[in-house]
Amino acid sequence: MRKYTSEKYIELVEKIDDPVFQSWQRAEMDVIGKVKDSKNKTFIDLGAGYGRVLPDLVKIARNVISIDINPDMIAELERRTKMYKNATAIGGDIQGLSKLLEKGDVKNPVLLIIQNTLGTIEGDYKKVLSETKSVAEKYQGEVIISILRQEVLKDYGMRFYTAIQEMTGEPDLENIDFERGIFRSKTGYQSKWWTSDEIEEIKSYFGGKVVNEFLTPHFAIIHISF
Ligand SMILES: C[S@@+](CC[C@H](N)C(=O)[O-])C[C@H]1O[C@@H](n2cnc3c(N)ncnc32)[C@H](O)[C@@H]1O
Repeated sequence: MRKYTSEKYIELVEKIDDPVFQSWQRAEMDVIGKVKDSKNKTFIDLGAGYGRVLPDLVKIARNVISIDINPDMIAELERRTKMYKNATAIGGDIQGLSKLLEKGDVKNPVLLIIQNTLGTIEGDYKKVLSETKSVAEKYQGEVIISILRQEVLKDYGMRFYTAIQEMTGEPDLENIDFERGIFRSKTGYQSKWWTSDEIEEIKSYFGGKVVNEFLTPHFAIIHISF
């Protein structure tokens, strides 16, 4: 499943000429930027990649903890976190989030699962949701989750993956499950896009208070407090 390097990821994600993708990334930062009293909070970026949003987070946060499992991403993430006094990187599996944070400097956490990381988890996304919920409950924290919608996988999604196929591989047309929102490529890359029912299920699973929501036909960004 893990077929890309941080270099390729940065090149494609930062330079992609796709107005929907760009507006999605801006909307994520808009929701994150509206977190109240952010200077008193620890932002925990789950599946942080190479640290795309790190420069924005360090400006608004008390501190930032960025976690990723991909050794290639971690190397770049560590290089970037060293540039800031209030940032740390953890190489690890967010299916074991509580344990990873045991020695971390965590105060009023805001847990971020953005850029559809939940759809591309190496492992079981339900385990990630349950760990996220348990950390958020323990610290009475907040969660911001940003995901792509199943309804647009067939047209927008296929154009998107064709544009970035250098990284994700050629779409495997026989094995893509549009009904369930599961994209698959011939190199084994997989990404889930979420139905409206699943988005509602995730919200009710967390059970907290919805502080902010940014919903479009393409994506859903939800900010929940516990
Ligand atoms: C779609 S990328 C998003 C990167 C980042 N959130 C961003 O907005 O730029 C998903 C990231 O999640 C990481 N990831 C996938 N499964 C993981 C796991 N079980 N534990 C930690 N990181 C994981 C991948 O290595 C990848 O960097």
